[in-house]
Amino acid sequence: MPKHKKPKGRARGSGRRAGQRFDAEFGVTTEATIFLGELDPYALGGSLDYATHYDPTPIDDFEKLMAATTIAPQDATFVDLGCGLGRIVLLASRRPFRQVVGVEFSRALCEVARENLERFGAARRRCRDVRIVCDDAKDYRLPRGAAIVYLFNPFHGPVLATVVEALATHPGDLNVIYHTPLGRAAFDQHATFEIVADHPWAVVYRNKRSGARPASSLRTSAD
Ligand SMILES: C[S@@+](CC[C@H](N)C(=O)[O-])C[C@H]1O[C@@H](n2cnc3c(N)ncnc32)[C@H](O)[C@@H]1O
Repeated sequence: MPKHKKPKGRARGSGRRAGQRFDAEFGVTTEATIFLGELDPYALGGSLDYATHYDPTPIDDFEKLMAATTIAPQDATFVDLGCGLGRIVLLASRRPFRQVVGVEFSRALCEVARENLERFGAARRRCRDVRIVCDDAKDYRLPRGAAIVYLFNPFHGPVLATVVEALATHPGDLNVIYHTPLGRAAFDQHATFEIVADHPWAVVYRNKRSGARPASSLRTSAD
């Protein structure tokens, strides 16, 4: 489960209150804890055994992590693998990505994520192509070109291993943001990935094809 210790100095924007304020401001529903077994367990197949439950990324964490990426949004697709109710998709859509995709295997969560996207409204987006794909992350293939993939500790075991191998074969430049990286060994030990930012609660990787240098370091005085 994606619970992580809240480091000191992360009170603003990192708790449930900030999530509730975000939901109230934009008329969406993203602040929740939802156990998949209570939703559609029979529809999810074998991957359910390796899935974490739904919990959203704390609001402020996204901006911090994006500051460490090495790929310009104009050139890239942003993909949240295990997007849940779509908070990260909404936040990413405010940046000028070529495309933003949320991949989620629970149909029930996908439905709410799509409603959230509609409520959030096109006026707030700088990306014109934003979509929720109802699919198992292990079967999803990235579109061609540069990509930033986001993972908030969504799955582990063979599902994570399959996803890491698929990401490793991506022919374009790739950044992977891994929040609450409980399975980070799969990336750390893979010859394709190198770390661009390391943090007690998240790691940002790039594939070795990526040429650009990190935009900034994740380490802050609050760490
Ligand atoms: C911790 S939540 C993260 C939600 C969102 N990414 C965020 O950061 O706000 C993990 C999500 O991954 C989804 N998930 C788990 N295994 C999956 C799989 N194999 N394919 C697609 N989604 C999956 C869960 O249903 C859950 O919604």
